[in-house]
Amino acid sequence: MFNMKSAAVAAAALVASACVAGAEKIEVTHWWTSGGEAAAVGVFADAVNAAGHEWVDGAIAGGGNARPVILSRIAGGDPMGATQLNTGRDAEDLVQAGLMTDLTDLAEAEGWADFIRPSKLLDSCTYEGRIYCVPVNIHSFQWMWLNRGAYATAGVDVPSNWDEFVAAAPALRDAGITPLAVGGESWQISGMSGVFQVALGGLDLYRAINVDKSPEAAASAEMTQVFEAIAAARGMVDDGYVGRVWNDATAMVINGKAGAQIMGDWAQGEFGVAGQTAGDEYDCLPGLGVYPVLDTGGDAFYFPKPNKNVEAMTAAQLEMASLLVSKQVQVDFNLAKGSLPIRGDIDLAAANACMQKGLAILANPENVLPSSEQAFTGDTQGQFEDLWVSFFNDPSISVEDAQARYVEIVANAD
Ligand code: GAL
Repeated sequence: MFNMKSAAVAAAALVASACVAGAEKIEVTHWWTSGGEAAAVGVFADAVNAAGHEWVDGAIAGGGNARPVILSRIAGGDPMGATQLNTGRDAEDLVQAGLMTDLTDLAEAEGWADFIRPSKLLDSCTYEGRIYCVPVNIHSFQWMWLNRGAYATAGVDVPSNWDEFVAAAPALRDAGITPLAVGGESWQISGMSGVFQVALGGLDLYRAINVDKSPEAAASAEMTQVFEAIAAARGMVDDGYVGRVWNDATAMVINGKAGAQIMGDWAQGEFGVAGQTAGDEYDCLPGLGVYPVLDTGGDAFYFPKPNKNVEAMTAAQLEMASLLVSKQVQVDFNLAKGSLPIRGDIDLAAANACMQKGLAILANPENVLPSSEQAFTGDTQGQFEDLWVSFFNDPSISVEDAQARYVEIVANAD
C-alpha cells in the first residue's frame, strides 16, 4: 500500500528547505472530524509541520456549526491562520471586504491556472481578477454507496440504478436491513434532492436550476419527480435518522445494517478507514447509475489577513497554500479524503475503483456540473435546506405545496 504519510512529509520537507518564512503557529479551522476526514486532514497537518511550522488544529464538527463560527471570527477581527470552507460563495462577503490574503502572485508564479481543473474551481476563488483561496479537492454529492453483502443476504442483485434500488427495498426490509441510510441533518436531505435532480430530472433540469436559476424549471414536471422521490425515500429509512450525522449513516452501510446511502464521495474515506475495498465489500453508483456525472463541489482553503505578526504569518500562509496544491500532498490527501484532486497532472495509480470512475467522468467536461454551493449564496442554500428537511420529515406537506415554495426560493435566489 502506498505510504502516504512519508511521501507527503518528504515533499513538505523539500519545500521547507526552500522556504523563507520562519516557523509560525498556524491555527487551522475546518469541520473534518469523521474517521476518514481526520485521516485526510492529517496529511495536510503533517505537510505543514514538516515544512517547519506548527499546525494548531481547530476542528469544529459539522459544516452547519463550523461555517458560521469561522465566518464570524474573521468578520469580528479574530482571524485564524487558515480555514477550510466549501469551494463556492461561503466567504464571498469577507473577500469583498478585503479580509482575505491575496494569493494571486503565488498562483501566477506557480501556474495554478495551468493545472487546476476544471477552471471553475479557481473562478470560485477569484474576485475582481485576484485569487483569494486555493481549491484542494473535488467532491461530488452525486453518488450512491452500496453494501454488496447486504443485497446478497437479501437474495437480490446489487442495484445499478434508482429504480432497481426501489424494487430491491422490500427484500432488504424482509431481511431486517434498512434500505436507505440517511442522517436527518438538513444539508443531507438537501444534497439528496440535488442527486435526484440529475438522476430523475436530467442534466438540463439540474443546469436550468443550478446555473440559470429558472423558476420555470423549478415548477416543471421533471422537478415534481424529484419531490416524489424524496417522498418515496421517507419509506426507505429507519426511525432513528433524525439528528444522525452523515458518517454514522455511512457506518450503517459499512456494517451491513443498511443497503445503501446517497452521499458525497467523502463517504469513501469512511470505507477506507474501515478497511473495505471498492468492488469487494462496497460498490458505488455515480449519478445513481443513470447519468454518470459529478458536481464539482469540494473544499478550498482561505487565509484570513493576520492582524499581528503580519509579514511572517502572511509568508507562512503563502507557503501553506503552495503545499496544499503540491503534487504529492494532493495525491496523499485526496486518496485519504475520497475526493478527486484539483490538478490533472498527477498519477493517482493508487486510486480505487470508485475514484477511477470519478476520474473518468471528470475527463469529459460534458459530465461535470457546478455545485449548488457555487451557484447560490449561503442564505439561499439555507432556505433550500429548511424546505427539504421539513418536507422529508413531515408527510403531511404535499408535493404541490413543497414545490410551490421551492419555486419561490429559486425565483428570489441571489
Ligand atoms: C462538505 C465538505 C466535505 C465533507 C462534508 C461532510 O461540506 O466539502 O469535505 O467533509 O462536508 O463533512
